[in-house]
Amino acid sequence: MIILGIETSCDETALALLDCTGTATLPHFKVLSEVIYSQIAVHEKFGGVFPMLAKREHAQNIVPLFLSLLEKAHLKEGTSVSNISDSETFLKNIGIESKRESEMWKQFFEKIPHIGKLNIDAIAVTAGPGLEPALWVGINFAKALGAFWNVPVFATNHMEGHITSVLLSPEITSADIRFPLIALLVSGGHTELVLVEDWLSYKLLGQTRDDAVGEAFDKVARILGLTYPGGPKISKLAESARAEKPVSPISFPRPMMQTKDYDFSFSGLKTAVLYHVQKAGDLSEEMKADIAREFEDAAIEVLYKKTERAIEEYGAKTLIIGGGVVANKHLREQFTQLANECADCKLLIPTLPLSTDNAVMIAAAAYLHAVRGEKGNSDIRAKGTLKLAARFA
Ligand code: KG4
Ligand code: ZN
Repeated sequence: MIILGIETSCDETALALLDCTGTATLPHFKVLSEVIYSQIAVHEKFGGVFPMLAKREHAQNIVPLFLSLLEKAHLKEGTSVSNISDSETFLKNIGIESKRESEMWKQFFEKIPHIGKLNIDAIAVTAGPGLEPALWVGINFAKALGAFWNVPVFATNHMEGHITSVLLSPEITSADIRFPLIALLVSGGHTELVLVEDWLSYKLLGQTRDDAVGEAFDKVARILGLTYPGGPKISKLAESARAEKPVSPISFPRPMMQTKDYDFSFSGLKTAVLYHVQKAGDLSEEMKADIAREFEDAAIEVLYKKTERAIEEYGAKTLIIGGGVVANKHLREQFTQLANECADCKLLIPTLPLSTDNAVMIAAAAYLHAVRGEKGNSDIRAKGTLKLAARFA
């Protein structure tokens, strides 16, 4: 089946068409086309993502992006679906207030009715977690398209998408996945350790009690005078320091590293950086690099230790790491080392483009549900704090 994936949970408007085949245990995916528009340039000057600004950007861009997605995919076009005579009534019937995202609806009713019905079998849209105003844009677009073409819409969990993203990496197949599996999800909004006993069977082992690790990277970057998103800039500085000095000349705490649970905390680490910077006064480039390196070492060491313990405790045969922070070179290296030391556990890392937010993973996650006979959802709502799993013990 062909699934249209839609992702607008944060600052990326992403759409993808994914050809999904195979069984529930051995799914297979082929990307037909994909488009991503990053809003980083818009948010950069504000030092972070503003939900209402993100919403406006998604609403302005989603229809043109959808048209370019279709153009790239060369899908078979059937006959044109009849024109909608009254767009307000059409939206009202599916519970959408047309005054919201009015820019999107103007473009939608100008363009979409002229497209013939395509061989798209289902739509998958991120329903959470994420920024609710931003999520609503994707949800309403998906609902309208689903009603217009009469195809089911699946409300997808963004974190399930990040776990599923490994299945899309060219060198990884579903046969590589052996359960139980541990997933470490690290992004701008989340830090979670999840036990996956089978597809769709998730247990939350632990999560951050305050800042997500990506958020900590972004905040530390701001303290060092670097622009949003700070993760990649911290990573570069840290690499330069590591190349110069074999040992870190400063030391920051490793919060909660020794606690028996699987929770994390990164706000104390960020505060330690802040105090260090305030004490140091004017920072040279070398001092900034040393701080970035020690911060990165501390954050990743905590992630590493807790994940290592979870692998042992639950006898995990596979480790998946997913989320935007997986783009971090040091983290990838450290976790590769962890997997090398663990004979029974295979590490699966998504490719760089699949680590950060994308719509391919959203479509793939929905297939895992569709292939088990689920029919989609009728009343989809944005849930900023949508949980993947209940907390485990
Ligand atoms: O998963 P993602 O694209 O969006 C969310 O769902 O949050 O993750 C974005 C986060 C940002 O906090 C960004 O700074 C961080 O991932 N990030 C990095 C790197 N590249 C992106 N953090 C550390 N090192 C990187 N190279
Ligand atoms: Zn994400």
